[in-house]
Amino acid sequence: MTNWTWLGLPPLAAAHGGQVDALIGWTHLFMLVLFLGWGGFFTYALIRFRRSRQPVANYTGATSHTSSYLEVAVAVVEAVLLVGFSIPLWAARVDHAPRESDALLVEVTGEQFAWNIHYAGPDGKFGRTDVNLLDLQSNPLGIDRADAAAKDDVTTVNQLYLPVDKPIIVRLRSKDVIHSFGVPEFRVKQDAIPGLTIPIWFVPNVTTAEMRRRTGNAEFQYEIACAQLCGLGHARMRGFVTVQTADEFKKWLDEKVTEASAPDPFGS
Ligand code: CUA
Repeated sequence: MTNWTWLGLPPLAAAHGGQVDALIGWTHLFMLVLFLGWGGFFTYALIRFRRSRQPVANYTGATSHTSSYLEVAVAVVEAVLLVGFSIPLWAARVDHAPRESDALLVEVTGEQFAWNIHYAGPDGKFGRTDVNLLDLQSNPLGIDRADAAAKDDVTTVNQLYLPVDKPIIVRLRSKDVIHSFGVPEFRVKQDAIPGLTIPIWFVPNVTTAEMRRRTGNAEFQYEIACAQLCGLGHARMRGFVTVQTADEFKKWLDEKVTEASAPDPFGS
């Protein structure tokens, strides 16, 4: 069974997502079987041992081993879910992370209540940052533009642009409290924790334009939904992901680099 659309999950747009959906699907199927089994047994017990039929309690109880076999069967199914699905999926996510040289590296820093996106630019090096340079309006990441590696760095707020079919490594950080980077269509969700840099990776495989065609919704947007209650503005802590073709993405990034390295209008 490879079609999990009956689960009603958001449309899928990442290479590893099929495995996640399969895990969710099989878990639901097994839980449905358990629910019907236990529910049926409960109903049977209610009728079979009703007061009018069984006025005196039976102190011996059941003597057959059926229930033990059933318990073992349930444990086996749960072991299969764990060993056959969950652990391989987790191992693949952790062990087969792409090499940084094959991937696009993006730093995403959560704050109350926005997502700061930071690209290294053409040199592939993230510029120096310094908390003393932090300015919530003009420099929310405290990038030191005097640093050579920082000159071509590109930052945006709440706008994550990604090329399609390329491994993406997001280095997730937080400036204040715990946030959570969740993009349902990519089947990724990871907490951003102050003091830690947490890498996550995925391969987006459907462009925003293609998803708009598929869903018939001309306004469709991938959304970074903060998935940890992080304060009063939690509900409006939304970022947007635009997945483009490699050419479109390069053009976008080039424009941003030009903007970033243009002479400072304030002449500082
Ligand atoms: Cu950030 Cu909820």
